[in-house]
Amino acid sequence: MRLSIIMRLVYVLVLNCLVVCSAFIVDINEDENHIPLFRPLRRLVSNFGPGRRAQLTLVFQSDVDFDTRWFKSCDPGVRLPMAENPDMLPIKANDPNYKISSMHSGSVHALTMDIVGLQEKFPIKYVTIFSARNRPMQYHLTSIIPGPTERHLEKLDGIVWENVPRRSIVFEQSETVIISCVADFESYSGYTDEMHLFSTQFTRIRKNRYGFIKTRSCGHVHPAGDPFWEEAKNLWLTGSVLELDNGANRFNFTIKISNASRENQGIFTCAAEREHDKTFVNSWVKQGRPGSKPLVELVPCDGTNLKDETVPYQIKLKKRKPTCIRCRSFGYPDARMNFKKAGTILNRTPNIHLDFHHYLKEGGGVPELTLTFWNPNGRDAGIYTCEAENEMGSASVAFNIRVV
Ligand SMILES: *[C@@H]1O[C@H](CO)[C@@H](O)[C@H](O)[C@H]1NC(C)=O
Ligand SMILES: *[C@@H]1O[C@H](CO)[C@@H](O)[C@H](O)[C@H]1NC(C)=O
Repeated sequence: MRLSIIMRLVYVLVLNCLVVCSAFIVDINEDENHIPLFRPLRRLVSNFGPGRRAQLTLVFQSDVDFDTRWFKSCDPGVRLPMAENPDMLPIKANDPNYKISSMHSGSVHALTMDIVGLQEKFPIKYVTIFSARNRPMQYHLTSIIPGPTERHLEKLDGIVWENVPRRSIVFEQSETVIISCVADFESYSGYTDEMHLFSTQFTRIRKNRYGFIKTRSCGHVHPAGDPFWEEAKNLWLTGSVLELDNGANRFNFTIKISNASRENQGIFTCAAEREHDKTFVNSWVKQGRPGSKPLVELVPCDGTNLKDETVPYQIKLKKRKPTCIRCRSFGYPDARMNFKKAGTILNRTPNIHLDFHHYLKEGGGVPELTLTFWNPNGRDAGIYTCEAENEMGSASVAFNIRVV
């Protein structure tokens, strides 16, 4: 099934080198714990020769949105490091000699680069960088075309992440932090197969601005070696390579930081490399305040204390006497809040005013949403809720308004 889709894509692309395709739209999975799937499947090189209209097509499987960039070099010896390589020339989107188009069928995608009047000398090296949009993950695929060719279709396989650390890890002083990277290398390309873990220290310059100090390797694993472990200060590192039933090698690199402190903050990069492809994922590891689910508290402006009452609270409004009800939320990060009546979010009306601000309390502001009734009347009676939601969860409190 998958193969027939691929063949159809390749076939359509070969026949139709000028297909203009829709933008790269795939379902974006916003789930923090979702590990983006990226697996190269086929590479088709056609009509490479001096002055010709050449074409390079990559067929791959992915389940999230990837941005792509291409680089070229005539020196196949140049290796692209983690970031970008100034020795490699980026192929600009508006370069008239290159035209990039894509096609999609479910989770299978084909990306084609049409090269007008090929000028490069052989061997030619192209590096395609795929970056997952909603997660700091990249996949670099190197295509080396050694000499002129009419048509060459090649089966590819991937390095598929099975487990990666979360995009950001916030730890408390003295906590134990575990960073684990597990990837399946679907084929073996020899001594170049390796998994590394790097850490980059950073300093905070100002809010959301960081400076990077230096990157160092925490260690690496490769299939020829025995499982390894190492202990240094409060770090425990372990790595292994396991051969799976389908012939793939599963690389696992785990680092355990016990009694973590500010010194252990950094960007941890899991990098899996083979001869012609490499992929890496970053995780920000920071010390900070742990998140907590919001708690909500209702405070009528007339001073009524609701603390000992049972929920739903009974709140009495006097006809035509302006009054308000405040709702505060406690939790970190700050919650988004709203009031609902019979399940519908309340918006401002000529009779109802909503006002959000931070109520200042010792140790920081508390988000507070105030609901004001300018002219209470019978229509305002009913069951209301105040709801608060942050990244850690949500909470709500119900109250019944009567107008007398
Ligand atoms: C990776 O290694 C860690 C530590 O040895 C282990 O706890 C974990 O289960 C391993 N994960 C996989 C997928 O093999
Ligand atoms: C944890 O680390 C702190 C310094 O960051 C040190 O003072 C303390 O003794 C350590 N505790 C243990 C149990 O190792």
